[in-house]
Amino acid sequence: MRTESILLTGGLGFIGSHTAVALKNHFKQIVIIDDLSNSVMNNYYRLKSLVGDCLILYKADIASQNVIDKIFLSHNIKAVIHYAGLKAVGESIIFPAKYYYKNVYSTKLLFEVLKKNKITNLIFSSSATVYGKPLYLAIDESHPVKAINPYGQNKIDIEQMIFNDPYFQEQCSVKILRYFNPIGAHPSGLIGDDPKGIPNNIMPIILKVATQEHQELKIFGNDYQTHDGTGIRDYIHIMDLVEGHVKALDYNKKGIIVFNLGTGKGFSVLDLINTFQEVNKVKIPYSFVERRSGDVDMVFANPDRAKTTLGFEALRSLQSMCFDAWNFVKKK
Ligand code: WQD
Repeated sequence: MRTESILLTGGLGFIGSHTAVALKNHFKQIVIIDDLSNSVMNNYYRLKSLVGDCLILYKADIASQNVIDKIFLSHNIKAVIHYAGLKAVGESIIFPAKYYYKNVYSTKLLFEVLKKNKITNLIFSSSATVYGKPLYLAIDESHPVKAINPYGQNKIDIEQMIFNDPYFQEQCSVKILRYFNPIGAHPSGLIGDDPKGIPNNIMPIILKVATQEHQELKIFGNDYQTHDGTGIRDYIHIMDLVEGHVKALDYNKKGIIVFNLGTGKGFSVLDLINTFQEVNKVKIPYSFVERRSGDVDMVFANPDRAKTTLGFEALRSLQSMCFDAWNFVKKK
């Protein structure tokens, strides 16, 4: 009989919700705190249908000390995955102070509570964005970090908070996971990447074009130094990504370690569009426009550390990422 529970901050988001499904039967309770700034209650109901009664939701901001204290008093929380935060790069450039408060300051408050409650297993949801413009490829965890936008700086600030804290250095097993480009959806089609408002990332935008909510995909630049001139990224299936989280939770060595979660393979925007069209038999009209500021030619991971240390390898194909992403939209 499992007695321990896990807390997922921002657990109704794209990655958090898929992690909750992957952790079913691993914990007595899966406790989510989420302010619903980027999710809706329907997502919770669909998630509950997959996870069951062990899923518990607290609708609140992680800066709500009384709610966080209540969570630790009411549940035997033994592990925490910290997803909560704002993640739109473009928005972070317009509202840097809001991003600093919601991402960095709120996390500082959260970490004080985790230390007070002697949490010894923590995963921080970081991002390959911290690497900025690659100095070399494939990017390994030793690559220097240099933010090229406030969102990326927020992630670096939080990582530094962790690195500089003796509690995390000595008394806690902390895994910092730097995600490359997660796309796709749970094979049931009940949950997927369903951001509120205008999406920023390419797959939710492709899906809006596929459903004809958007007329065409605007491809940001076709003059990059790549095989077809469009930007190359390391797309990883969300189901692979969350399996990486499960393996990171099981890695219990005290101290702080960083893992890239990517496939090690790069695909261009046109590769992604062509694959999506072939797999789903859906046309994706597009046109080329000017580059988006801050974008780089190519980004892809060196995934070796996660493979050798966690036994984790992302194996799902770009075809399955495109199939599952569309399957989610068709079932919405
Ligand atoms: C992918 C490719 C674009 C939209 C972002 C952020 C960060 C991280 C991953 C969380 C690029 C091109 C996109 C469009 C396009 N997530 N594109 N037209 O920029 O690699 O990384 O997501 O930490 O949020 O760093 O992802 O999906 O925005 O772009 O041509 O309408 O698609 O130029 O080449 P990105 P993306």
